[in-house]
Amino acid sequence: MSETFEPRNIIVTGGCGFIGSNFVHHVVREHPGVHVTVLDKLTYAGNPENIAGLPEDRVELVVGDVCDAELLDRIVPGHDAIVHYAAESHNDNSIADPEPFVQTNVVGTYRLLEACRKYDVRYHHVSTDEVYGDLALDDPARFTEETPYRPSSPYSSTKASSDMLVRAWARTYGLRATISNCSNNYGPYQHVEKFIPRQITNVIDGVRPKLYGDGRNVRDWIHTEDHSSAVWAVLTRGRIGETYLIGADGERDNITVLRAILRLMGRPEDDFDWVRDRPGHDRRYAIDSSKLRRELGWAPRHTDFEGGLEATIAWYHEHEPWWRPAKEATEAKYAAQGQ
Ligand code: NAD
Ligand code: TYD
Repeated sequence: MSETFEPRNIIVTGGCGFIGSNFVHHVVREHPGVHVTVLDKLTYAGNPENIAGLPEDRVELVVGDVCDAELLDRIVPGHDAIVHYAAESHNDNSIADPEPFVQTNVVGTYRLLEACRKYDVRYHHVSTDEVYGDLALDDPARFTEETPYRPSSPYSSTKASSDMLVRAWARTYGLRATISNCSNNYGPYQHVEKFIPRQITNVIDGVRPKLYGDGRNVRDWIHTEDHSSAVWAVLTRGRIGETYLIGADGERDNITVLRAILRLMGRPEDDFDWVRDRPGHDRRYAIDSSKLRRELGWAPRHTDFEGGLEATIAWYHEHEPWWRPAKEATEAKYAAQGQ
């Protein structure tokens, strides 16, 4: 077990997005001595409401771009760690327009690594299991830290590129860096473009949910709160230069998840539309998180998926003013793609 790192003053990039804002809430609640500077560009996916109401002496929002080296020169000194969540994060968007993915995910990571090198700041890189490509439905294998990189989409290839930069900076420059690759998250504050919130808000709107392809694609679901506790464990107790896979043994195919949503929302289980498949659609993701569990003693707490889904449905019912402004434009974009 490596020494414990005790950060006092951290930068969380993308802290106004889905997973980043859940992490900021987690740190404020669980680690009272830590101050958080959120660096967020507030793209379509960033919403300052996600961190509204947190104590002002604990959380400061800096609106800006991770690609802006001059801004990083101003804000990075004085911090002891950067936890990098900011990204363009949606596969379907990356297929329609890859450019911002290359810019934010690759160039943005490069700029942060250079700032960390310059000011000797520890760096944690938040990444995805999608860098490993996909598995066949009948393959008993799961991804491990040794699985070769084989990304399929513009999104996952830019995340894979950014992981490679982190590895190179750790080895070549001795940067104090760690990487985590997590499976699909669900929970509050997720943008309505993503699978689970899209279907919940469609049902609320009386619109039939949309299922891609044959609906048999498998995702390995984890509650975002469990992702947050795992990232904190890796940041504070992970070994420098190491990668940790984060997952909660939550494999389910899309049609099963969709039917659970329909059932929990009082609709017939076949009340949905089959729509055009995503080009290059990854078949199955599955995470073996035994390294994280063994080395750092981490375990997920939200293991009741249907219970978590029910709470998430309740959250979207209670927070319509939060998601309503994004809904129409999101659906218009999908309709134009035949999805
Ligand atoms: P999100 O799209 O909800 O949020 C991204 C945030 O980053 C937004 O607040 C946005 O404004 C900000 N941002 C985008 N470009 C920026 C830039 N150039 N400078 C500063 N801020 C910028 O994404 P998410 O789903 O919360 O994902 C967060 C991270 O977790 C990403 O790195 C993603 O690859 C990773 N991840 C996501 C999942 C998932 O299931 N969503 C799973 C594993 C890993
Ligand atoms: P998504 O939330 O976009 O996450 P990712 O592509 O990163 O796994 O999609 C999750 C799964 O749901 C994926 O297999 C695509 C599928 N999907 C649908 O069937 N219908 C939809 O409307 C959306 C957005 C996704």
